[in-house]
Amino acid sequence: MRLAGKIGIVTAAASGMGRAGAVRFAKEGASVAVVDLDAAQAEAVAGEIRSAGGKAVAIAGDLTQDTFARDIVGRTLAEFGNLDFVWNHVGHPGPASLEGIDMADYALAMDLNCRSVLVTTEAAIPILRARRGGSLLFTASISGLTGSPNSPVYSMAKFGVVGFVRSLAKRLAPDHIRVNAICPGPIDTPMLRTFVLRPDQQAPAGKDVETLLVERAGRVPFGRAGKPEEIANAALFLISDEASYVSGVAMPVDGAATA
Ligand SMILES: NC(=O)c1ccc[n+]([C@@H]2O[C@H](COP(=O)([O-])OP(=O)(O)OC[C@H]3O[C@@H](n4cnc5c(N)ncnc54)[C@H](O)[C@@H]3O)[C@@H](O)[C@H]2O)c1
Repeated sequence: MRLAGKIGIVTAAASGMGRAGAVRFAKEGASVAVVDLDAAQAEAVAGEIRSAGGKAVAIAGDLTQDTFARDIVGRTLAEFGNLDFVWNHVGHPGPASLEGIDMADYALAMDLNCRSVLVTTEAAIPILRARRGGSLLFTASISGLTGSPNSPVYSMAKFGVVGFVRSLAKRLAPDHIRVNAICPGPIDTPMLRTFVLRPDQQAPAGKDVETLLVERAGRVPFGRAGKPEEIANAALFLISDEASYVSGVAMPVDGAATA
């Protein structure tokens, strides 16, 4: 097993890629804190892991709240006694518009993509430093690598995540803490529906969300959206000791979209 005996946190783990990662990491021997706003779904994912013989605890709360974003580290320590990795997966698309921008949605995008992952990381670093190493993984996006005309605020936030990751990789290298980002292309999760049609956008004439999803997937060189499990596979590698000399990368997992 590739994560035997490891203990870690996955945020936004009740759905999509976070769920796929939590389930996969547990199958590979990790004890996983399943963190999410959706208490019932977080408990369902943790229950699914335990039913399959794995170790998991659900921790429900709102990661826009600094106290909660920090406390998930202490609660994981209280449950499992140590910490080896954190996958800061939480994020938010934010507004599509610039003219007439919804600043509350801007603030939510910044809070979830940047602030909350900073706060959780700040709490995790002393624990990883004390045990002389560990792995921090962040979810950026291909919009954190290339400009995104439909998602300028999201792109601003995810470029920020990539900058944070590269900075921390150098800063924490003496502590043997590896820091990486995963940069998904369009992945078949509930959030992809928001990406193709934001609450502040009008659907183009004659097109519904299903049509827009097909069009979005068709623009990927692979001709399809990715599956959450395909992101979980890459996340598993980056978190595991197999990536022992990998730090500071922003790895696209995108069906050649950024090639
Ligand atoms: N889906 C894509 O195409 C895509 C592409 C690139 C990057 N991403 C990034 O992946 C991450 C999540 O995407 P997904 O597609 O797996 O999502 P998803 O829609 O499947 O799940 C999102 C989860 O986040 C949780 N959540 C929302 N607000 C929260 C809060 N305040 N506190 C705690 N949990 C909260 C939700 O309850 C939900 O379970 C984000 O960082 C997103 O930017 C997604």
